Amino acid sequence: MQRLASAGAADMPHNKRLMPVLALETSCDETAVAVYDGERGLLSHALHSQVRLHAQYGGVVPELASRDHVRRVNALVRQALDHAGLKPSQLTGVAYTAGPGLIGALMVGASVAAGLALAQGLPLIAVHHMEGHLLAPMLEPERPAFPFLALLVSGGHTLLVSVEGIGEYRVLGESLDDAVGEAFDKTAKMLGLPYPGGPHLARIAESGRPGRFKFPRPMTDRPGLDFSFSGLKTAVANAIPAGADDQDRADLARGFEDAVTETLAIKCERALEQTGYRALVVAGGVGANQRLRARLATLAAKRGVGLFFPRPEFCTDNAAMIAYAGWARLAGAGPADARPEYGRLFTTPRWPLEDLRPPGYNRQ
Ligand code: KG4
Ligand code: ZN
Repeated sequence: MQRLASAGAADMPHNKRLMPVLALETSCDETAVAVYDGERGLLSHALHSQVRLHAQYGGVVPELASRDHVRRVNALVRQALDHAGLKPSQLTGVAYTAGPGLIGALMVGASVAAGLALAQGLPLIAVHHMEGHLLAPMLEPERPAFPFLALLVSGGHTLLVSVEGIGEYRVLGESLDDAVGEAFDKTAKMLGLPYPGGPHLARIAESGRPGRFKFPRPMTDRPGLDFSFSGLKTAVANAIPAGADDQDRADLARGFEDAVTETLAIKCERALEQTGYRALVVAGGVGANQRLRARLATLAAKRGVGLFFPRPEFCTDNAAMIAYAGWARLAGAGPADARPEYGRLFTTPRWPLEDLRPPGYNRQ
């Protein structure tokens, strides 16, 4: 089985690196387009956030998301190509997020990607959204070497993953109920904060007093690497005093954030112990949380392991991470992968990360 020895491109022949891939991300409420190649790195990235569109409903409305992707996507493709200084004919592949995500939203990106690939005779590369997240640190100058432990914390997923190479993922632990981002968002809503609640909750927690509210660290008192966050949300609900003021809300937010952060840190430490890995990658929207970043930095320093984050804008949904994953898959593709059916057009709301295979796997 062929494997990219490192996700860095230094050990790859020049012609393999110089392959600009354009990618589309439309799995949820961000329309994003980016161009990446292994020689020059990220050439452009353009993004339109639908946050304001959905805010009035307190959450993402799938049908509105799809329609807005349709409205925005072509202009963003043009913008990404312009910034990269490339014509469509100079691309070597088109990647798109095929899942998991909202099916109508995914289909917008997939259709545009397929149209562009067909018009230019280019391979079409279906990318797993969470693979994009977990490879996002590869867009930074300091990159982790395989194998590493990845903590993926987003609105829909909470996963601890053993990453042995691109497409070689073993899920060590996951949330049995709410994802961390979901718990942030629901708790924020209870505290009267606007959607999406995560960043708002983090902001008010800044003026919260630690220790006033001590919430449980779910599932840390028993072995294993799974998570459960729905009870924590209920614990916060039960602790809200009647007639809560801003200071009460800030204290509750701080107590919640500390409980989540501590729980994630305990499980990361356990997983590092279990695997013996020397690097920890943290990605997904909640990876933008400063308190989590600081707590994991302390853990990494204590254990002497490397800690790798994407920059905060590449923690939340973006196309740069999809372009990287698409490029890595194209660059590592074997002869069988390069056949036209490799560019199969599909979208899927659910897609287990462990179903992925490394690039070059389809050798026949
Ligand atoms: O990865 P992402 O952009 O979308 C999904 O694939 O889900 O993650 C979005 C999630 C939301 O739940 C949002 O509230 C949370 O990430 N989030 C944060 C922060 N920034 C985004 N949660 C806590 N603190 C933050 N600073
Ligand atoms: Zn995401």
